[in-house]
Amino acid sequence: MERNDFMKKPIFGAGWKMYLSDSEACQLATIINKSTILNDSVESYVLPTFTVLDRVNNILSDCVVNVGAQNMCYEHSGAFTGEVSVRSLVEMGLKYVEIGHSERRSLFNDTHVSINRKVKLALENKLIPILCIGEDLNDKIAMRTNEVLEMDIRTALFGVDYEAAKEIIFAYEPIWAIGQQESAGAEYANNVHMFIRQLLNSLYDESQNGDEFKIVYGGSVTAGNAEQLMKQPHIDGVFVGRSSLDIESYETIFRIVSESQDLK
Ligand code: 13P
Repeated sequence: MERNDFMKKPIFGAGWKMYLSDSEACQLATIINKSTILNDSVESYVLPTFTVLDRVNNILSDCVVNVGAQNMCYEHSGAFTGEVSVRSLVEMGLKYVEIGHSERRSLFNDTHVSINRKVKLALENKLIPILCIGEDLNDKIAMRTNEVLEMDIRTALFGVDYEAAKEIIFAYEPIWAIGQQESAGAEYANNVHMFIRQLLNSLYDESQNGDEFKIVYGGSVTAGNAEQLMKQPHIDGVFVGRSSLDIESYETIFRIVSESQDLK
């Protein structure tokens, strides 16, 4: 399948998980805000924890880096103790919300059904869902990667039309590559991205070749391997955990992503 990415900006997402305290997150956001190498040729966002979202969003209010949440409740409002509503995220002026990270699926019982509800609720409220999908090691070994991804995608997109699906950032995050020393191989990741693109293309009659869908790779991306990944024709961006916590590697990855159109 030929790629034609002139309409899409490359993407650099940073998932801060629960690594930073609120004061540390504010410090990092302040440093990012002062960075002189950032530019709007990249679609970029950071995802801090809930308690510091508002402050980080204020710190980055004039920065090209956007802010999003790591999760939200599948219901609009009501008796859901300990949850955070889509309304709160919208009121804060956020643009993005991460949905279905593998840590949330495996540790906090996010299911295909709740993920589908969250995706639809986010889209209805004009938030961009960053939908995480990926196979675990057992599925990879048993060569069930495509099957797992197809299930993740079909269930998450149940009732989501073409125009809405184009808003979503699909984050391919092989579970076996998250939090490791090495990412998935660039070619392996590219082939999986191609499969995801073809699947999305087949799900929507309106789609010409799947090129309009945004698909990023996550799982042990570093300043050292980002270039190899970004060279791949089907990888539209990277989603970075640990290596986004240090300004030096943050800036290096940002630069690689911003120059990635020349790499392809
Ligand atoms: P690491 O980059 O730390 O492996 O985390 C990736 C990730 O889970 C991004 O969502």
